Amino acid sequence: MEDIPCCPPDIERAAGTSGIPRIDPRVVRQDFPIFTRTYRDRPLVYLDSAASTQKPAAVIDAVRSFYEEHYANIHRGVYHLSQIATARFEAVREKVRDFIHAASSREIVFTGGTTDGINLVARSYARDHIREGDEIILSTMEHHANIVPWQMVCEERGARLRVIPMTDEGELLIDEYEKLFGPRTRIVAVTHVSNALGTVNPIRRMVRVAHEHGVPVLVDGAQSVQHMPIDVRDLDCDFFVFSGHKMYGPTGVGVLYAKSDWLERLPPVRGGGDMILSVSFEKTVYNKPPYKFEAGTPNIAGVIGLGAAIDYLRALDMRAVAVHEHALLEQATERMRAIPGVRLIGTAPERAGVLSFMLCAVHPHDIGTILDQDGVAIRAGHHCAQPTMQRLGIPATARASFGVYNTDEDIAALIAAVEHVLKVFS
Ligand code: ALA
Repeated sequence: MEDIPCCPPDIERAAGTSGIPRIDPRVVRQDFPIFTRTYRDRPLVYLDSAASTQKPAAVIDAVRSFYEEHYANIHRGVYHLSQIATARFEAVREKVRDFIHAASSREIVFTGGTTDGINLVARSYARDHIREGDEIILSTMEHHANIVPWQMVCEERGARLRVIPMTDEGELLIDEYEKLFGPRTRIVAVTHVSNALGTVNPIRRMVRVAHEHGVPVLVDGAQSVQHMPIDVRDLDCDFFVFSGHKMYGPTGVGVLYAKSDWLERLPPVRGGGDMILSVSFEKTVYNKPPYKFEAGTPNIAGVIGLGAAIDYLRALDMRAVAVHEHALLEQATERMRAIPGVRLIGTAPERAGVLSFMLCAVHPHDIGTILDQDGVAIRAGHHCAQPTMQRLGIPATARASFGVYNTDEDIAALIAAVEHVLKVFS
């Protein structure tokens, strides 16, 4: 199968930017009510989209109008209002399918977010597939959400983690990855884009290698799905998870994509209403996938908001989103590199959305605090990726991260604020 371009440089090589609509972030900002307010008496410079994106009016309005006009519980009511709510909820499943190019909407499970999706797979998969002495491959640059659930599985089952090493620049060592496979390897769980470094990992290639060893792959898409077109069939991953709140949708909602064969075979991990066909004290018959993984009343309004976020991103065109954000990242990287005293953390050739840095002799928390006084919101800390920090021998970084609404002025404000920090500490 021909590789479908998803990284920004691939997109530019394949289509040329001329075939892709241009994003004007000044226009985009008008869609986001939060940018109408001032922050510290100036326009808000929001550079923390990797933690959570701001919400366009289309998402806020979709949630509000759903509650005001169409709200009822789903999958249960014989009355019309419940049927409308159910139809709207299920329409989002199809929207998600189309957005990530899954084969069937039955492969889309709604979750509470990325963390929830990974925990679901870890617990469900472990039940029949992980035994004492088995091995799980992760990478050095995983978010805690893609480490701790697997560690819990290892503790319960007597399995162990094998970790893909990375370079000082933040690139995974793929030759070393290939050497980690053995007869006891049971699953690979790897992030598509590092939340701490921005590295875009070569997922297609990593999946190919795993499949050659008969091992399935879970991809953490929390930091990729909002930045580039995603085609799960092209990636050929077995599981792909992401969150609504990092892609302009509401908090508390996310998606687990899994190949239908896995959803048929894996057991549910949460029991309750809606995930059953019949229940008696002697025996329960589970519902078919995806419902067998969706016990209880789901975050109905969150799913509606997620659907609106997908509509919003599709209207912008994900290729345009990738090209716009790549240009911002390149510009910010170049300008930061030119400032004496700045150390960039994570300089892999393929990066998306994230610029991590340190300033000599200034703790990242102080950087974050002074930037905030200048009206620039960034994240400072270990970014829930302590093993990444340990590998690089640093306690923390300052991290600027980008979204569709960021402008050249935001980069200029970041640079000015960083220069201000250096002046304060000089
Ligand atoms: N995982 C989120 C981040 O990277 C919270 O900031």
